[in-house]
Parts: sequence; structure tokens; C-alpha cells
Amino acid sequence: MITRRKFIKNTGAGLFLSGLPYSSKASNNIKKYELTAKKAKHSFEKNQNKTDLWLFNDNCPGPLITANKNDVIEIIFNNQLDEPSAVHWHGIRNINSMDGVPVLSQPLVEPGESFVYRFPVKDAGTFWYHAHNKAWEQVTRGLYGPLIVSDNDQLKEKNDILVLADDWLLNENLQMDVSSLGNLHDWSHAGRYGNRLTINGVFKPNIEVFSSGQARLRFLNTANARVLKFMLNDDIYVRVIASDGSPCNPFKTNKIVLGPGQRIDILIDETSKLKHLKEVSTGNVLVAATFEPKNQSISVLDFDKNPYYPFPSLNNAKVINIHMQGGAMGNLKSAIFNGERRDLRDLALNETKLWAFNENVGDYNYKIGNLKLEEIVILRCWNDTMWQHSMHLHGHHFWVTSKEFEDLEINLLRDTYLMQPGEKADLIFIANNPGKWLFHCHMLEHNASGMIGYLSVN
Ligand code: C2O
Ligand code: CU
Repeated sequence: MITRRKFIKNTGAGLFLSGLPYSSKASNNIKKYELTAKKAKHSFEKNQNKTDLWLFNDNCPGPLITANKNDVIEIIFNNQLDEPSAVHWHGIRNINSMDGVPVLSQPLVEPGESFVYRFPVKDAGTFWYHAHNKAWEQVTRGLYGPLIVSDNDQLKEKNDILVLADDWLLNENLQMDVSSLGNLHDWSHAGRYGNRLTINGVFKPNIEVFSSGQARLRFLNTANARVLKFMLNDDIYVRVIASDGSPCNPFKTNKIVLGPGQRIDILIDETSKLKHLKEVSTGNVLVAATFEPKNQSISVLDFDKNPYYPFPSLNNAKVINIHMQGGAMGNLKSAIFNGERRDLRDLALNETKLWAFNENVGDYNYKIGNLKLEEIVILRCWNDTMWQHSMHLHGHHFWVTSKEFEDLEINLLRDTYLMQPGEKADLIFIANNPGKWLFHCHMLEHNASGMIGYLSVN
């Protein structure tokens, strides 16, 4: 029980809850939650050792936050960790002051302090929330959870299933290997990989599905670095109906590929055929979950087919080039860090900085460029490294010709795009949300060591 809360000042005009204590007065379109970050124990498996994690409300993953499109979500965030934090609502086209990025959009929430997040949700879809301070440690230790916005309560009755995946590095006692957090080798390569996969916080769970009829599965990759690839049974083709929350023109695939931070929603036409969920990214087949039918059926699910906004016309679009370099076996020799050009070797050994945009080692203070409100923007990204990167833009969704699904090339609206080594991709969006918005790699070790910056829209 928290009796007294110290709220830090919220700069968003009119959004600060001045009336303390907190009022719980019910309202139809305000969804209220309270999230408390603290150390907690969690069982990945029944009757096994409990693992020491950092969690929201003692839950792994954090509690499911739900709302209907156009509701307002209000979350009291209490920081009971020993270090500062802030919470980001990944994929929400948010008000800038509620975006949860320390320094850039709000002050850090210190230990013992609270902060009220309050924002409308304009889009229905699969989102998530996570700590955004030292994410390479705080998210890795468990500070994240799902956020689902629906059109008209479609979640409740229907066959709508969350498949939230994470990749943990655990020892034989199922404790986190914390000595490897911050390991320079991992940071300069693919990021810190785990050795155990969980679905919804459990090793190989049984997921209940209705015994017949359609189902919607919402996949979410919360791993700090690993790209995951799922298949159903051995080889069922599924229909993808949404990418990173936004509806898409449905297409078929047999592999659900997810970079860190990404979401994919699929539709299954007949749940009675569902047996296993398999993860195949390592080349070995790992049974990630099994499906357990419960006696009930549903005939047809409705789902939206319209992306949040159509592909914009590119006349007069502003091009911003983003040359991504660095990492092991890369071609970056030197880069600018805090206004000074230094050798990559020096930056790696003395500052743990390894990656750059346009030869700048980025952080929350590095401005990539200025954009005018309502301007059409092409972020022309070139992954000139030997590694994959999962590129995330805050506050907007962008159009991209995705090469993520094997032989397909398909235009998708996303907030996070998985780029292959050498790939060039245009991320196209309308800069219609004022504020300072991060653009960074969601391999959390990569953004901590330089692959990050912001775009200023005004
Ligand atoms: Cu989910 Cu800046 O990230
Ligand atoms: Cu990266």
C-alpha cells in the first residue's frame, strides 16, 4: 500500500492531475491503471526455482492494459526500483509529453517518485509498454507488458490470444545471468542473446483456444536482441492481418518473423487444427507452446483492413539520409561523440560506444533533423553494418516495403522495421505529431551504444 506519493511535475499543459489524493471516480472512456515497478520473484515454470526479476505489479509480463479506440488511458506509475526510470508506450501515436523518454519528453522518475501518464488512444491494435531508462537492463530484467486497444470490446468474448515472447539468459538455477549485462562483445555484435524462451512469461505454456472456429493471435517480441521466427505446427500458412498494431492488406505466410519490439497479428481460420507453436530462428525447432482446445466455438471474427492512414504521395517529400554504421566487422573508423571526433576503438573501449547514424554516436540529445508539421518524410536508411537492426520510430507509423517475410515484398505500415545487413529501406511517414521523437534500433544494446537520435517536428 502506498500512502503518500510524490508526483513529479508534469510539463504537459492541462494533463497534470492536481487533485490529490487520486480520484477513482469511474468514467466510461477513461481507463485507469496503476503500475508499480519493483524487484519481484517469478516462476517461469510450476514448482521450479523462482527467478529474481524487476517487474510491474509483480507480474511477468506486466499486467495487460486494455482500452477501446478513442478512450483515454491513465496510468499512475510508481517507481520502487533503486534507480530512476520512465515508461514508454511503444507504438502509441502519443502526445509527446507522455511518450516516456527520459530527458527528451519528461524528467526521470526517481526512486520513490510517481508519474501520471494520461493520453488518448487513437488507434486499435497490439502495442506494449516498457521501461525506457537503461532499457538494456530494465527491460531485460522484466519491466514491460502488453497494451491492447480494440474496436468495441472485441477482446473479451472472442478467440483473441496474446503470444508475447521473450528470450532470457538464465543459469541452471533459473537465475538471470546478470554478469553479462553490459558485455562489450554482445554490444558490438547482435546484442545479448538468451538461452530460454518464454511465451506470456512461462516456458512452453498450454494456450487455451476455442475448440473450433477462427482465432486471432497477437505476436509480440519483447526480447532485448533476438529476432524470433515462429511457425504453427509444422507448416501452416496463416493470414497476417496487422503489423505493429496497424491493420494491413491480409497476406499469407508460414513464418512469423519478429524483430525486437515488433508485433504481428494473424488470423487462423480453424483453431481445431492448432497443435504447436514452434520457434525456428536458430535452425533448431523448439516447441514454444502447445494449444489446448476448450469447448466453445466462434464462427467469424471481424477485423479491420484499413491501415491507420494510406500511403502518402511523395511529391515534395523531405528526404533524410540515415547511414547506419559501426559494430564488429564494420567499416566505421571514427565518429563524433560529444562534439569530438574519436577513433571507434577508443570509443568502444573507453565509452562503450559502437554504433552511429551519419558518423554521430547518438543518445537522447542527438538531433538527426528538423521536420515541419504535416511534412511528408522519407527516412532513407542504409544498414551499412554486418548486423540486423530493428529500427523503431516513436510517435508515428511509417510505410515501408518490407522484405521481412521471405519471398514477399509487401507494403506495410509499421513502427519498427527489421533491416538486414546491407539493406537500404525508405521509411515514409507524415510528420503530423509535434514534438521530439526518438528513432533508434530496438536491439537494446545497440541503442545504448549509439544507434539512436531524435527527429524534431514543429
Ligand atoms: Cu520500444 Cu524507444 O522504444
Ligand atoms: Cu541494432
